[in-house]
Parts: sequence; structure tokens; C-alpha cells
Amino acid sequence: MLPELDQIEQNALKALEPIQDEAGLESWRIAHLGRSAPLMLVFDQLGKLSKEERPVIGRRANEIKRALEAAFSARSEALRQLALQRTLQTERLDVTLPGRAFTIGRLHPTTSNMRSIIRVFADMGFQVYRSPEVETDEYNFGLLNMPPHHPARDMWATFYTNMPNVSLRPHTSPGQIHVMRAYAPEPIRAILPGMCYRYEQISARKETQFYQIEVLAVGENITLGDLKGTVSDLARRLFGPNMRTRFRAAYFPFTEPSAEYDFECLLCHGKGCAVCAWTGWLEIGGCGMVHPIVLQNGGYDPARFSGFAAGLGTERIMMLKHHIEDIRYFWANDMRFLDQF
Ligand code: PHE
Repeated sequence: MLPELDQIEQNALKALEPIQDEAGLESWRIAHLGRSAPLMLVFDQLGKLSKEERPVIGRRANEIKRALEAAFSARSEALRQLALQRTLQTERLDVTLPGRAFTIGRLHPTTSNMRSIIRVFADMGFQVYRSPEVETDEYNFGLLNMPPHHPARDMWATFYTNMPNVSLRPHTSPGQIHVMRAYAPEPIRAILPGMCYRYEQISARKETQFYQIEVLAVGENITLGDLKGTVSDLARRLFGPNMRTRFRAAYFPFTEPSAEYDFECLLCHGKGCAVCAWTGWLEIGGCGMVHPIVLQNGGYDPARFSGFAAGLGTERIMMLKHHIEDIRYFWANDMRFLDQF
């Protein structure tokens, strides 16, 4: 019987060698260590053996069983190591490779420019007030001292709509009425930033939509000196202490007296260049002392209150700051432009 046992052991070990995977291992285990494996049948027959043979065969069968179990776990451990090696090789992670770059979003240059101007005004005690982009004729013109058919309405190339008396605002000035009506008779120091729309021929200097900031201060004893001081201070806070400004007399129906104000051209520092048409100055906007009729329309008694107002072309300021030569860049959505800010 002993040679038979040796044979069983050899067969089993030989069958184990070529096994390469879990499934193979499992069927080997069933075939050689399972209930009906040849070795197990030997155990079943031990009872039929003679007294002398029984311990000898039994011991040897047990020895083989342990040997097969050891071979089985050695093989399965070897297979596990092999599989590990294989995944380590094929799925090798090179930690020195550069990572995937994030695309980081950012503010549109117009927005960040707007924010820096708002910050300057905030430092001077102005609060932001929002007013609508779609207005009635009354707010766009009537309450700003331009009754229907007043020729001054032609100063703004306005987009009218199919709805009677409704138009896109061509400037932020109608917001003056909104904020005054909201706060009268309290004093006001407010800025009103927002998009304006004009039916313009598009060019390097003109777009059909652009941002303005309306500046409005209403209170007792507000003077033209306050207006000049605020505007020049804005220029200095934005462009440095040596920035020069100038005021030229102008006409707006809703301010009296009225002016247009210029910032020194930063491209030539006042010497004169193509951008400033050889004047050394760039027009930024209109301003003036709030007209008594407008104060009244806002709910203030012009005998007691006075105020100043100014309109600010924010893209103009951005163009000055960054030497941008064409206003169309702002809304063209060209990444080559936007990426620079
Ligand atoms: N709203 C005027 C414009 O857009 C500018 C302005 C604002 C003038 C405030 C006077 C006072 O042309």
C-alpha cells in the first residue's frame, strides 16, 4: 500500500505545478484533498487494514495530507504574489508625471475693473444701488427734465421696444430718480453701476452695450467743489497721485451747470497721441449739479437740498489703464484677450 500512497502524492504534486489561477487551484483542492480524493479513500479504508499495517499507512497518509496542504498553500501564495507583481508592472503609477492641469475660472476683466472702481467709491462713503436696465420713457427722459418731444432726447441713440414707452436705458441716469425716491428726504451718497444700451454704429470706441457707473450725492450744502473733488480724487485713487483731470462746460438737461470731465491720457502722459486725438486728454463722462426739477422729481425740496451727479464710462477707464485700443474686445469673448487679465 505504501508505494500506492507515494504514487498518490507524486500525482497530486505534479498536477499542482502547472496551475496558474484561482479556479485551477480550487479544482485541484477538490480532486486531491476533497472528500472523494484518492488519499481520502485511503483514510476510509484504514479500518479494513490489519493491526500492523494500520498505524504505518495511517501515519504516511497523514504525512501526505499535510504535505499536500502545505504545497497547496505555498502554490496559492506564489500565485497571489505573481498576480501582484503583474498588476504592479502593468498598472505602474509614475508619480513623477506632471498632474492634470486645472482650468481655473476667473472674473471677466470688466467685472474686476468694475469692482476696483466700486471699491474706490466705497472708500469715499458711497453705497451701491441697483436700478433696472429696461425703463419707461418717463424714467429714461421725462423725469430727467426731458418731456416728450424734447430735442435733447436725441442726445441718446436709444433702443425702443415694441411696447409703447418702454426702452432700454441708454444711460444710468434714470437710476437717480429710483434711488432718490427710495431715500428722500434722507441724504444720499450712492453709485449705480450697470449695463447701458445705445443704437450706435459699432467702432473701436463705441459698442451697443457698455457699462456706466452713475454717481449721485444729494444733501444740504453740496457744491460744485464736492463734485470736482470727488471726480479728481477718483482719478488719483485709480491712477496715482499725479493723475490730472479737467472739466469742460457742457450741457445735460438734468444737471445745471453741466460739465464733461477728462482724465489725462495715460498713453502719452498729456503730450498728445493718436488715442487722445493729440489733445492729451480722454473724456470719461458727463457730470453736473442735479437740476432743481430732477431733485423735485426725486422728492427733494430744491430750496433746501442740492446734489451732484456724474456718469462714468468704466470700459474707458479700463482702456486707459491697460492701453486697450478697441472697445470691441470686451464683448467679443476672445480667450486670447480675456486670458491676459
Ligand atoms: N447720463 C449722461 C450720459 O450718459 C452722463 C451724465 C451723468 C451727465 C450724470 C450728467 C450727470 O451721457
